[in-house]
Amino acid sequence: MADQEQQNAFMGEGTKRTRGRDAQRMNILIARAVAQAVKSTLGPKGMDKMIVDDMGEVTISNDGATILTEMAIEHPVGKMMVDVAKTQDEEVGDGTTTAVILAGTFLEKAEKLLDDSIHPSIIVNGYMMAATKAKEFYRETADDVKPDDKKTLRIIALTSITGKSAESAEELADLVVDAVTSVVDNEGTKMIINEDNIKLEKKNGGSLKDTQLISGIVIDKEIVHTGMPRSVTNAKIALLDLALEVREPESDAKIEINTPEQLQAFIDTEEKQLKGMVESVKKAGANVVITQKGIDDLAQHYLAKEGIIAVRRVKKSDMDALARATGASVVTSMKELSSKDLGFAGKVLEKKVAGDPMVFVEQCKNPKSVSILIRGGTQHVVDEAERALVDAIGSVSSAIEMGKVLVGAGSCEAEVAVKLRDYAKTIGGREQLAIEAFAESLEVIPRTLAETAGMDPIDALVTLRSAHSKKDGKYFGVNVFKGRVEDMKNARCLEPLQVKTQAIDSASEVAEMILRIDDIILGSSKGKMPQMPPGGMGGGMDM
Ligand SMILES: Nc1ncnc2c1ncn2[C@@H]1O[C@H](COP(=O)(O)OP(=O)(O)OP(=O)(O)O)[C@@H](O)[C@H]1O
Ligand SMILES: [Mg+2]
Repeated sequence: MADQEQQNAFMGEGTKRTRGRDAQRMNILIARAVAQAVKSTLGPKGMDKMIVDDMGEVTISNDGATILTEMAIEHPVGKMMVDVAKTQDEEVGDGTTTAVILAGTFLEKAEKLLDDSIHPSIIVNGYMMAATKAKEFYRETADDVKPDDKKTLRIIALTSITGKSAESAEELADLVVDAVTSVVDNEGTKMIINEDNIKLEKKNGGSLKDTQLISGIVIDKEIVHTGMPRSVTNAKIALLDLALEVREPESDAKIEINTPEQLQAFIDTEEKQLKGMVESVKKAGANVVITQKGIDDLAQHYLAKEGIIAVRRVKKSDMDALARATGASVVTSMKELSSKDLGFAGKVLEKKVAGDPMVFVEQCKNPKSVSILIRGGTQHVVDEAERALVDAIGSVSSAIEMGKVLVGAGSCEAEVAVKLRDYAKTIGGREQLAIEAFAESLEVIPRTLAETAGMDPIDALVTLRSAHSKKDGKYFGVNVFKGRVEDMKNARCLEPLQVKTQAIDSASEVAEMILRIDDIILGSSKGKMPQMPPGGMGGGMDM
């Protein structure tokens, strides 16, 4: 105790400090709890989570990153785990649950080694060696996939989607493959996919089966005036970031109008201004105006008289998508608008979707610009379908860009675990134990999949290990639908290599970082520990 006081002597009052094994134990506990929170959602037989935020907003999801973000985790170590999911989400899109479960398991196994008095730096070292090797082994295990191999790409999309609770997986998988393959760019020998060129638009109503791919951009807005045409071909589109309105006087400015003549003169100037704006649009040669801001009734009337279609209050992200698709540049001042700024689309039209009008901008100048209009019975269905599509788009894009694909269902993890154990033997010493712990951690994926399928996880692992130690057992995995371990090569479960290597990267890095911490100092003014909810378990987490 005296020792403790001496250690804390230089710190201010109210500072809390936890050191050594206690600090490690605490951090590992929290990291594991976060991993545990998403574990049951893994795979096609995984369960969903319902999260209700403090505003009563409900999210139902099976997506690791979504669940953890919605959970509003406050503990710094918990946040590091959430970042693992976020990084995975940003880098690939899919595999967020896998990454978090792996991180939690790396730490769980490390704790056992710590209990056996193995120094954290030895564990970290062993884990770093194991991570590098694991990525190599994943690469070796992976098969090639060609960008025009739609059959394989479709299975990759399907694997991503069946991990979610979305139905109509087959239809959605087709859409994803069509969407991604239509926006691929060849840069020399490299394939590049800009996922921004695939716009997702959601509309409640109908069923998931009605979800469709549109070559072009869909905007959830209507054509502003009934007098305007509902469609136009050879559209020349002006994109404006300005209001076609007469500017309101400053709030404290007054305009004094005393006579009817003055009033008329005032109205006339307003009209003139609006007419001038419409004139500029016409002069530039546009037959479609899309603006981020408002359009005055009178301006609408003048535009309608000129046969120009107008859409107002369009989101910034939609404006950007339109600019990319049509080649238009967004103009912020009416004076600057010229024919050079206009974009082009073969067709602009308004169509009713679920009773609401939406504007479709089709046959765009840049054909590598598509939209997926997501339909579904309820908001929750549409939202989860969107998450499934985002993951699948990420997976298919990654498979095309890297050209490598792995058999999922825990098969690639089991294969890499076997290879890692062989590698560990060549290292020897205490690092060997850490590498073996890393290998065992990878097996958490098949083990969890087996659990979700109601199988005995130990039996499943024993069968898997023995299969993978044989020559022809490379593709053995957990068939969650049949509840048995078997060759999954032709079982329609494929994942891009990057999902696995990225998960290894972010999960092992966070585990190493957490293992290196042996001192938690909480200043009295900053870094408050998260408190239990009021009336909860009483008091904060005492360190
Ligand atoms: N048909 C299948 N049979 C067995 N396992 C499958 C099948 N389809 C997918 N899987 C496995 O399910 C796991 C993926 O599950 P899931 O999609 O729930 O989590 P994730 O991809 O790690 O994270 P995210 O929440 O971001 O999707 C992978 O290990 C994958 O191989
Ligand atoms: Mg997934």
